[in-house]
Amino acid sequence: AKITLRQLLDHAAEHGYGVPAFNINNMEQGLAIMDAAKSVDAPVIIQASRGARSYANDIMLAKMMEALSEIYPDIPLCIHQDHGNSEPTCLSAIRYGFTSVMMDGSLKADAKTPADYDYNVEITERVSRMAHWVGASVEGELGVLGSLESGQAEAEDGHGAEGALSHDQLLTDPDQAVDFVARTKVDALAIAMGTSHGAYKFSRKPDGDILAMNVIEEIHRKLPNTHLVMHGSSSVPQELQDVINRFGGEMPQTYGVPVEEIVRGIKHGVRKVNIDTDCRMAMTGQFRRIASENPQEFDPRKFLKPAMDAMRDLCRERFEQFGTAGNA
Ligand code: G3H
Ligand code: 13P
Ligand code: NA
Ligand code: ZN
Repeated sequence: AKITLRQLLDHAAEHGYGVPAFNINNMEQGLAIMDAAKSVDAPVIIQASRGARSYANDIMLAKMMEALSEIYPDIPLCIHQDHGNSEPTCLSAIRYGFTSVMMDGSLKADAKTPADYDYNVEITERVSRMAHWVGASVEGELGVLGSLESGQAEAEDGHGAEGALSHDQLLTDPDQAVDFVARTKVDALAIAMGTSHGAYKFSRKPDGDILAMNVIEEIHRKLPNTHLVMHGSSSVPQELQDVINRFGGEMPQTYGVPVEEIVRGIKHGVRKVNIDTDCRMAMTGQFRRIASENPQEFDPRKFLKPAMDAMRDLCRERFEQFGTAGNA
């Protein structure tokens, strides 16, 4: 059954677990997530980016979400707009049946340039007011995602924004977070603490200098009742890199966010953990393997089924690691 982000994360906070929010663009990813959730009795957040909505078509995506909810009636399902950049994006998502929206006002509407604080407060507050009128939840974002390693802020498309930012600019300010939540009344707050989107987050396993977990702890102390969201939380497992590269891929060595760091975040108020890249890599490894092992194969299902299975296994692992399992 469909559930809002607020309802789900309130339950998660009460019981001390986190919920992975997996991105989808197609049926196979949707089925993989729901199959994993059913196998471990976990509630689900499925999110769609603006890119997913234009890739799959709004109507297709909306009916797919309804279908997933109907196929798995016992799994609580939150349908979330990932990185909404404007009021129309957020409100149209709600009209298509999404139960939650992210208004990402940390960037301007071009989704590339860091926005100023007043812009972020104003647009997030407006979306929050409108979404709450109709019972949908809202996630806001404060702070610019990007690597503390390179000082590079990140635009939504995963490419670096112009110019290097200082350490401070790349981290959410805890006092500003308190003001932001009070003024916008968001249900969940995405924070910047050194992660970035995509596969290329860190050039070595991150430690306390390049992954600022202490920022989470401080924000949680000041905002104990706000659900925190970690973006850019793929772990980029070595095994998935190896599968891709064993079968002709050319991904340079890279490091993601270690699962143990996410688990530490969950102990300090992180309730929603955004994961897209790991799912993409799990599927792509299988596409490459089938193409290489069975070069005569041309039935797309022979590629998509192993890809779906690999994504299902990845999702199930995260449900177990984050404590989501057993809470449906
Ligand atoms: O935030 C980024 C998500 O991974 C979605 O990516 O905009 O390529 O669909 P996308
Ligand atoms: P990853 O690229 O680390 O999977 O992050 C996804 C994300 O934050 C979507 O909003
Ligand atoms: Na989001
Ligand atoms: Zn994100």
